[in-house]
Amino acid sequence: MRFWLLLWAILLPWSVCLAGDDDWQTQSYKQSKRLPDLHHAVDIKLMDSMRPPAEFELKTGRLLQCKTCHGLKKMDEIPYDKVDKTDPAFLRGGPYRDFEDFCYQCHNKKDNERPNIHAMLEKDGTVKKQNCLYCHEEVNEQRDQRRTASFLKLRLPIEEVCYGCHLKTPHLNALEHLEAKAKPEMKNHIRDSERRNGIILPLSKDSKVMCVSCHSPHPDGVINGTKNPAGNQIKGDVEKGIEYSKHSWNVVYQADKHDRLDLYGRTHKLWLDVPYERIKTEVLLRLPAKDGKLCLACHEFER
Ligand code: HEC
Ligand code: HEC
Ligand code: HEC
Ligand code: HEC
Ligand code: HEC
Ligand code: HEC
Repeated sequence: MRFWLLLWAILLPWSVCLAGDDDWQTQSYKQSKRLPDLHHAVDIKLMDSMRPPAEFELKTGRLLQCKTCHGLKKMDEIPYDKVDKTDPAFLRGGPYRDFEDFCYQCHNKKDNERPNIHAMLEKDGTVKKQNCLYCHEEVNEQRDQRRTASFLKLRLPIEEVCYGCHLKTPHLNALEHLEAKAKPEMKNHIRDSERRNGIILPLSKDSKVMCVSCHSPHPDGVINGTKNPAGNQIKGDVEKGIEYSKHSWNVVYQADKHDRLDLYGRTHKLWLDVPYERIKTEVLLRLPAKDGKLCLACHEFER
């Protein structure tokens, strides 16, 4: 099995059995000796074949330590809930747009290409059951029946089901929405949009935006959208993924965006280069974003 899935499979039981005990999040590694959920192993020896850049500092015996991968000072003494993950030094050589680029500084790229878990359908339209089981404890055979949270049988809390394979900050919009909580007026608007569009826009128990508020984990066709709103989403080829094309207005867009990104940069100490790329094809979204429909399903922007 490929290592991406291994990472996930190995670390999973760990995080599940310890969930519920929250104290460690306010403590540092030095205090708790517990790594965050789904975290990479430490105190293991770098293999001779691995050649990370010199700044990936090792412990005696060529062992991995916190500062091998993290550039924040005294990482092992910072309580976990105080770690600034948006600091560019959080991961050495960061920030990274693609999570795996970080991993490939030690691991071999060719041997570790990730299988696309979202490609869940065989050519004849039947589902690849083994894919379902990465996220669900069992294959949901009655796919067209609407399910409430407790019947999803997810292996991880719904807020965390994408981590381990994707960064917590995979793109700009996700950063802005990290921990964002919908106010009651917005929640009413969201419920209204769900009805109007025949879709779902799930929020966490405490009304926060999650990855799956905007994204469907399944490709189009796994759930029948005419029978279950959870299956209503944009149609796109998950094998191809999202495709962009550069836009000739890039210069204008950059000037326009500059102020907002600058403010963002100063607040989060993370300067982002966001070229104006037209999204050519989209995948795994509950509504199209390129025409603003997705944003307007939650936001009521003034015109
Ligand atoms: C082999 C590289 C590596 C080593 C060694 C390492 N980390 Fe990490 N750490 C990561 C990666 C990758 C992430 C995940 C980033 C993400 O998901 O956005 C991470 C995430 C974290 C986070 C944020 C977790 C969260 O979910 O909010 C903390 C805290 C952390 N590491 C602490 C430590 C501590 C303490 C040590 C030393 C005991 C350590 N790390 C050693 C690679 C490493
Ligand atoms: C600084 C180097 C370094 C970086 C960066 C790094 N790893 Fe590792 N990783 C190691 C070492 C060393 C081992 C232990 C190798 C062994 O004994 O097979 C390891 C082991 C693993 C294993 C267990 C492999 C197995 O066969 O049991 C997984 C899974 C893994 N790494 C995933 C990742 C992922 C995902 C990333 C990126 C987030 C990453 N690693 C980044 C050094 C690194
Ligand atoms: C990457 C993780 C992931 C994978 C893989 C996955 N699911 Fe899901 N599934 C979720 C999450 C998260 C939800 C809840 C959000 C939603 O409904 O979109 C869900 C919800 C569902 C639901 C209930 C929809 C509803 O709300 O009524 C069904 C049915 C389902 N999945 C079937 C499947 C099947 C069948 C497969 C395999 C072909 C599969 N899932 C693979 C994460 C996943
Ligand atoms: C507010 C809605 C929203 C939220 C929340 C959100 N996304 Fe996205 N995501 C989008 C949109 C829209 C796109 C496509 C256009 C873009 O890149 O801006 C996208 C693109 C992506 C891509 C492809 C990026 C690329 O450039 O190829 C990945 C991977 C992704 N999202 C994962 C996630 C994960 C993981 C989370 C949770 C941490 C998340 N998203 C949260 C709206 C969202
Ligand atoms: C087992 C690992 C795994 C899990 C879990 C996972 N993904 Fe992915 N995801 C992938 C891989 C592999 C791809 C293919 C593209 C790549 O390699 O980045 C992908 C692609 C995507 C893309 C499209 C990006 C593109 O351009 O192709 C989006 C959006 C996305 N994932 C969102 C999510 C969301 C939301 C969740 C949680 C419900 C999730 N993923 C859970 C592995 C995973
Ligand atoms: C699932 C609901 C949801 C979707 C979809 C969504 N947002 Fe948001 N957004 C929120 C919430 C909740 C907040 C934080 C609270 C607030 O601003 O009222 C937020 C905040 C923001 C902020 C920060 C506002 C501020 O004042 O700091 C921006 C900018 C933003 N969203 C833009 C977008 C864009 C662009 C899209 C479409 C790609 C989008 N949102 C899609 C729910 C959503």
